[in-house]
Amino acid sequence: MASDEHGVMTPGLDGTAEGQLEVSLRPKTLATYIGQEKIRHELGVYIKAAKAREEALDHVLLYGPPGLGKTTLAMVIANEMGVGIKTTSGPAIEKPGDLVALLNELQPGDVLFIDEIHRLPKVIEEMLYSAMEDFFIDIVVGEGPTSHPVHFPLPPFTLVGATTRVGQLTAPLRDRFGIVERLNYYTPDELGQIINRSAQIFATAIDAAGAKELAWRSRGTPRIANRLLKRVRDFAQVAGKQAIDRESVNQALTLLDVDQRGLDATDRKLLLTMINYYGGGPVGVKTLAANIGEEAGTIEEVYEPYLLQIGFISRTPRGRVATAAAYDHLGIPFEKEGKQ
Ligand SMILES: Nc1ncnc2c1ncn2[C@@H]1O[C@H](COP(=O)(O)OP(=O)(O)OP(=O)(O)O)[C@@H](O)[C@H]1O
Ligand SMILES: [Mg+2]
Repeated sequence: MASDEHGVMTPGLDGTAEGQLEVSLRPKTLATYIGQEKIRHELGVYIKAAKAREEALDHVLLYGPPGLGKTTLAMVIANEMGVGIKTTSGPAIEKPGDLVALLNELQPGDVLFIDEIHRLPKVIEEMLYSAMEDFFIDIVVGEGPTSHPVHFPLPPFTLVGATTRVGQLTAPLRDRFGIVERLNYYTPDELGQIINRSAQIFATAIDAAGAKELAWRSRGTPRIANRLLKRVRDFAQVAGKQAIDRESVNQALTLLDVDQRGLDATDRKLLLTMINYYGGGPVGVKTLAANIGEEAGTIEEVYEPYLLQIGFISRTPRGRVATAAAYDHLGIPFEKEGKQ
């Protein structure tokens, strides 16, 4: 993403082909946004009601693992409300002046999208409290004896915050969001629809078996599905295929080290470490992190949620445990009667 001096980011306008593709792949309406039925239904109601009352939509917090469509949904919300959107991220707003500049540009009803909202500096977060609740901010202008407080009234706006780490949000900030939605992993069926839609945008043919295989191996995540689709398309093209089929998917994914269940090398390393060094667990996330050379936060945010979702690990008060399904997947005999 390109970023100007106030940390305002313009998605996909950084000139890269990848960036532009990312924009064209994003659905723009609730009707074309695939999956997340509960969120779509609820947001549809809230948006309709806010529009009928000619009010700004209440503030929205979106959380969940990376690549599930939080940024996309923020843009859908602005589009459905028929308002503008300013995009920034927590770490990009460094000084009170940055926030003032952002808020100053908002038209009534606009969306301010703050990605990685758990990384907002404390002073900015505190300024946001009054901005969100009563649409004003008080800041101190100048330094020393000439400094004086300035009261800025703001137009009503909608703050859309996104985070992969909702646990790191403070309670006062979290409580100021009227709408809080958790994005879940997509089913293979939903991912299949996303893959077919993306293939159409790429003007690439994919047959039903190919789409099904790819969906099954995309870790429940649209971003991964789209990324793998691009690579698989290369293989099919070089092999001179009219359409991406199951064989092209298999060939590409084997080379990319994505296994039959969509696990990558790190997923497998995590499971193998648990099994081979810790007897299948329980083992703490920090210990695992040190062993496989990843940050504990990344394990908690990216790897663990999916392995939990597909039942390959479970959480106990004493740490994580590899399940019989994980042993089975890795072809390791499970001999742990009574251990789980
Ligand atoms: N519901 C959906 N339907 C179709 N495509 C989707 C959907 N959700 C996400 N995508 C696709 O997946 C890609 C990743 O989505 P997005 O960038 O919104 O994820 P994110 O949750 O913001 O990730 P991060 O936490 O890394 O910021 C998008 O480019 C979009 O094309
Ligand atoms: Mg995002």
